[in-house]
Amino acid sequence: MNTSEFISTSPLKMIPNASFTWKTPSNIALVKYWGKSDPQIPKNASISFTLNNCHTITTIDFSLKDSSSGVDFELFFEGKKKAEFKPKIAEFFKRIEQYCPYIFDYEMHIHSENSFPHSSGIASSASGLSAIAMCLMSLEQALHPEISQAFINKKASFLARLGSGSASRSIGGPLVVWGAHPDIEGSSDLYGVPFPYQVHSNFANYKDAILLVDKGEKQVSSSLGHHLMIDHAYAENRFQQANENLSKMSQILQNGDVNAFINLVESEALTLHAMMMTSIPYFILMKPNTLEVIQKVWKYREEQDSQLCFTLDAGANVHLLYPEREEKSVNSFIESVLSSYCEKKQYICDRVGLGATQL
Ligand code: PMV
Repeated sequence: MNTSEFISTSPLKMIPNASFTWKTPSNIALVKYWGKSDPQIPKNASISFTLNNCHTITTIDFSLKDSSSGVDFELFFEGKKKAEFKPKIAEFFKRIEQYCPYIFDYEMHIHSENSFPHSSGIASSASGLSAIAMCLMSLEQALHPEISQAFINKKASFLARLGSGSASRSIGGPLVVWGAHPDIEGSSDLYGVPFPYQVHSNFANYKDAILLVDKGEKQVSSSLGHHLMIDHAYAENRFQQANENLSKMSQILQNGDVNAFINLVESEALTLHAMMMTSIPYFILMKPNTLEVIQKVWKYREEQDSQLCFTLDAGANVHLLYPEREEKSVNSFIESVLSSYCEKKQYICDRVGLGATQL
């Protein structure tokens, strides 16, 4: 695997201070990534919708320092110093230091905030790490003005991946593929690429409402879940199936077959959770209300001749995906029926978005 293009050379001249702010979104996988090898190489390719409203805004203030003192940073989350988040970010800097040696030359003050409520059960690692990666790439561009925008996005995705695999899919949008796949031109295990084919208008401005069924911390982290795929009895079949599903999804996105989309997306969600339930040790992240919502969605779809479907992340919350033209009817279904299955009746209305933006 050739990563040499991502190793930054020494700049001709260092700048004394700089500050960059990026807003980067979360994403929801349609074909899921579950299982990896070192260093954050996915066992199968995945594809996600980039979200719009669920995002992180991060500013990094850089001040030149003596590089011999090592990596030096301070982390503030929603205005407060957050010592408990530091080890994860320190580990991220360790993983990327060979690609971004300039991080030794600057003291970094990182200020982050999320648009979604704190501890809502929505993973912030994808939006959080992609925002840091974009700020670092803005610094790299200031030090090396010759680098192109295409390279900046590719390397930002490469760096974000080293922090959290799914973060590699939060730079671009509306659809990003991560993982080398023969049917997706330009795809790579090292970074996410925008879905390279024309997407049917049926999928334009797709909606995602996130039902906050359980806002607590997950009992089993994604890292442990990925790890349990190593000796999993069904792992090899799953990786093969996911790659086949990505081929199918690529066709569906191009031909606009929303019913086939629904079947594939729901099957992917349940397969992800089936992998968790058949790991050793086994675990369940769905809650009773997750199943209640799924049953209600199926009933609604049948009775209303709707194209509403669900997907799941590694948690109990339910993502509802639906075409723009059903926005009014589905939103009233959520408000009148599904919100009772959410903690404090909370849900987030989101839609597909275009990726990272500099503020
Ligand atoms: O990026 P990680 O390591 O948190 O893994 C996320 C995996 C899923 O969210 C469950 C699926 C996916 O492809 O996003």
